[in-house]
Amino acid sequence: MMRTLIMVSGGGTNLQAIIDANIADTDLVAVLSDNPQAFGLERAASAAIPSITVDYKSFVKRNDFDTALHETIRQINPDLIVLAGFMRILASGLVTEYAGRMINIHPSLLPDYPGLNTYQRALDAGEKWHGSTVHFVIPQLDAGPAFLQYRVAIMPDDSAESLASRVQQGEYQIYPQAIGMLASGQLKLDNGVVYSNGQALAASLVVNETDPH
Ligand code: GRF
Repeated sequence: MMRTLIMVSGGGTNLQAIIDANIADTDLVAVLSDNPQAFGLERAASAAIPSITVDYKSFVKRNDFDTALHETIRQINPDLIVLAGFMRILASGLVTEYAGRMINIHPSLLPDYPGLNTYQRALDAGEKWHGSTVHFVIPQLDAGPAFLQYRVAIMPDDSAESLASRVQQGEYQIYPQAIGMLASGQLKLDNGVVYSNGQALAASLVVNETDPH
């Protein structure tokens, strides 16, 4: 069983999708939040998954938060850390310790649109496609090796909200799928290269929205 820690800051709809997917060989050992108000904590409680809060606002110094977070994670001793809407940038020491064992989902077709506000930025730029990407985490934000993307066609009447809602439906599909690929051993990161069934991935695997119309 892959001991899996999910980290959330907010609503936790991805967490819910991961819980509901009942992923093979995956044990959801804990949910961790930096925000005591995160609804994701209630989702964890409903699913009888232990939850822990390391309250960002209770620390005066950023460094003390980083140390407490790192120590808490060490005690949980996860095989995999899944960032699911965790809105704090992690200290590089933590990220390095869990290299190849920490993943994130970012709402854009990385390497396009790292950072915030991706839906509006893609619309403003007149993009034809948008989506979401699962990637391994490295200290540089939204830049780690990507391996699974969900792609949607941008429609002429799309708003940031309508686009977000279609992309998020895709996240609920690809994030559990990505965790399953790691749990089964199909997917690995070695020296910055992602391998799927032993073959180096030249580009992310892409899942297309079934019916964009
Ligand atoms: C997701 O849309 C993901 O792309 C981004 O944060 C959002 C989290 O939403 N990293 P939720 O908390 O899972 O509902």
